[in-house]
Amino acid sequence: MKAELTLMGSFSAGDADPRLFGSFIEHIGRAVYTGIYEPGHPTADDCGFRKDVLALVKRLNVPIVRYPGGNFVSGYQWEDGTGPRELRPRRADLAWQTIETNEVGIDEFQEWAKRAGSEVMMAVNLGTRGPVEARDLVEYCNFRGGTQQSDRRIRNGFREPFGIRTWCLGNEMDGPWQICAKTAEEYGRAACEAAKMMKWADPSIELVACGSSYAGMPTFGKWETTVLEHTYDHIDYLSLHSYYGNRDGNTKDFLACSLDMDQFIRSVEAAADYVKALKRSKKTIMLSFDEWNVWFHSVEATAKIKPWSVAPPQNEDIYTFEDALVVGCLLITLLRHADRVKIACLAQLVNVIAPIMTEPGGRAWAQTIFYPFLDASRYGRGRVLSPALSCPTYESRYGDAPYVETVGVWNEEREELAILAVNRSLSEDVELSVDLRDFPGYLPKHRHVLSADDLKLTNTADRPENVFPKELPLPAVEDGKTTPVLPPHSWNVIIFGRR
Ligand code: AHR
Repeated sequence: MKAELTLMGSFSAGDADPRLFGSFIEHIGRAVYTGIYEPGHPTADDCGFRKDVLALVKRLNVPIVRYPGGNFVSGYQWEDGTGPRELRPRRADLAWQTIETNEVGIDEFQEWAKRAGSEVMMAVNLGTRGPVEARDLVEYCNFRGGTQQSDRRIRNGFREPFGIRTWCLGNEMDGPWQICAKTAEEYGRAACEAAKMMKWADPSIELVACGSSYAGMPTFGKWETTVLEHTYDHIDYLSLHSYYGNRDGNTKDFLACSLDMDQFIRSVEAAADYVKALKRSKKTIMLSFDEWNVWFHSVEATAKIKPWSVAPPQNEDIYTFEDALVVGCLLITLLRHADRVKIACLAQLVNVIAPIMTEPGGRAWAQTIFYPFLDASRYGRGRVLSPALSCPTYESRYGDAPYVETVGVWNEEREELAILAVNRSLSEDVELSVDLRDFPGYLPKHRHVLSADDLKLTNTADRPENVFPKELPLPAVEDGKTTPVLPPHSWNVIIFGRR
């Protein structure tokens, strides 16, 4: 099969915000306990954080991590995770039916994030709580001192404010599964008042309002416009969440699910701009895709876990090679919307639907989906070029899917042009002819591929490199064109630069 790609330096979707490569740690399953935190572990640091996990997180270079939920946040009392550990309550977490020991809370997590080289994206509880407690949390984290909450932080051993910049106004408040879910009117009003108080407490913060839990919600669209009508002047981002799975074993459809993400983003942009027009506003609401991933493998196993244990193995999807290809397509889609999607969080980061897995007391290892995320985070920082692609397509449940999903990212500072591409064909090579004439002097300098004969191949603690990137020979360049061959069902990274 043949495809043609032209990249022009001036046809761009804008600069990728580094926060596109964000992730998420929730108090659920083993994400925190025996995930990022395990005091007795041989690699534990002075705070009990696993250094083997920190090393993998640092490799992914995750600039922002959402915390502490997720569904968990809608019942969370943030004070529980601050101050002397011996005074912290054990609580029944109604969202995930577990016991939360509160050994780790905001005090510890901000320290973990610092060690991981990430900023915290803090979610406030707009389920069981409201604007006052949200304001108190901003005061605890960001006020210098001299108030009840900031002095409390100082007493807890943190003289310097945490300086948390990005805040989520609740989580999936439209979902009946959410603790104290709300109608769009109820949520819009609560979010507006919380936003005002939070920004009065710290005008430098940015706020994310909840969009729909996913595009299939019956209230999708109307939820967005109603919430924005209430909150438009006080918030900066609207959230999107989406998870995908190959439940019916149809790989061709599964590989095309990024078309659904693309359509979802376009619809939310349209809803936000409709409200912009109604309000005659000059401000544009940006998007925060703060939960996305593949999630379906572990659903049945998780349903069998008995309630009320501490840190049970919930939602531990073991990812296949096929899932890595889907994650690659989703990353490319997010990049292509860099003009509007400024934050995105791979949900989640450790053990729970995660690229990083741990054994309690044992090893930490990288799942298949680790690798496309690593590549996008490494090579996806720069100016996102709008790809002019001519490519055969196939019919999928999401519409006509091009066999090649691709994007170019130009990092002028590093003088590097990266092409990220998935070949969705299950049987054929694609000769991708790339027109580089707008980049004189740029030559191929690195190329690797993630491929496997078996689409269902997984990595495990014993065989963590079953699915692992492989370097390939560099393609030749002639008259400003180069034609790398993308193997069937593969994730490809081709880097050009001045050698
Ligand atoms: O990421 C797992 C869960 O998925 C989150 O808690 C929730 O927001 C979403 O439904």
